[in-house]
Amino acid sequence: FQPKLLAGRRVLVTAGPTFEALDPVRGLTNLSSGKMGFAIAHAAAEAGAQVTLVAGPVHLPTPRGVQRLNVRSAQQMFDAVLPLAPAHELFIATAAVADWRPAAVAEQKLKKDGSGRVPAFEMTENPDILAAVARLPEAQRPWCVGFAAESEKVLEHARAKRLRKGIPLIVANHGPSTFGQDHNALVLVHEGGETELPAADKLTLARQLVAEVARLAPRRA
Ligand code: C5P
Repeated sequence: FQPKLLAGRRVLVTAGPTFEALDPVRGLTNLSSGKMGFAIAHAAAEAGAQVTLVAGPVHLPTPRGVQRLNVRSAQQMFDAVLPLAPAHELFIATAAVADWRPAAVAEQKLKKDGSGRVPAFEMTENPDILAAVARLPEAQRPWCVGFAAESEKVLEHARAKRLRKGIPLIVANHGPSTFGQDHNALVLVHEGGETELPAADKLTLARQLVAEVARLAPRRA
């Protein structure tokens, strides 16, 4: 009998894009489909974990056995994740969280006024959910996995990001070629070295990532 890799462990996953409102009907978002994060939630549940999935606005079915919470903005994702984090042993931050949001949200739909003037938007920085979880006191802090979706110098950025965010493992991938697709290719960058997971469908990669996380992450006493 082979015990399941994550039997009895609690795993928190974020997935999808965020949507940052400009007015009641418009906003800024990105091309993340949520497929990688949902595949990770699926693979973790399959490996015996109790999974909580905090999802941005995506149209994907909830994987079997997974507890799902829907949010829209980065701030809402932050407000959902921070109180949940201490009850989880592992945190896998797959979401493509918007780095910035419009500083003010117009109460009514913005209208053209016929003058040809275009609106200018001031932006403000969103809270970094992963960095905030990684800074929780040790007794409350899950073992953190980040994602780095880059358009260039993927590995270089990922290595720097892992150190900057103070997390044990970051998963590097090429954003433009995987956002919205069913396939991906990953490089896991951790303290002990780097592991390449060659191109495959997202569920296959998610299962391999879950196995690697189960191997690397110490069990909470
Ligand atoms: O800094 P950057 O956005 O490139 O980092 C990506 C990693 O950080 C991903 O794991 C993402 O889910 C997480 N992140 C976050 N909150 C943010 C920005 C990124 O959790 N505001």
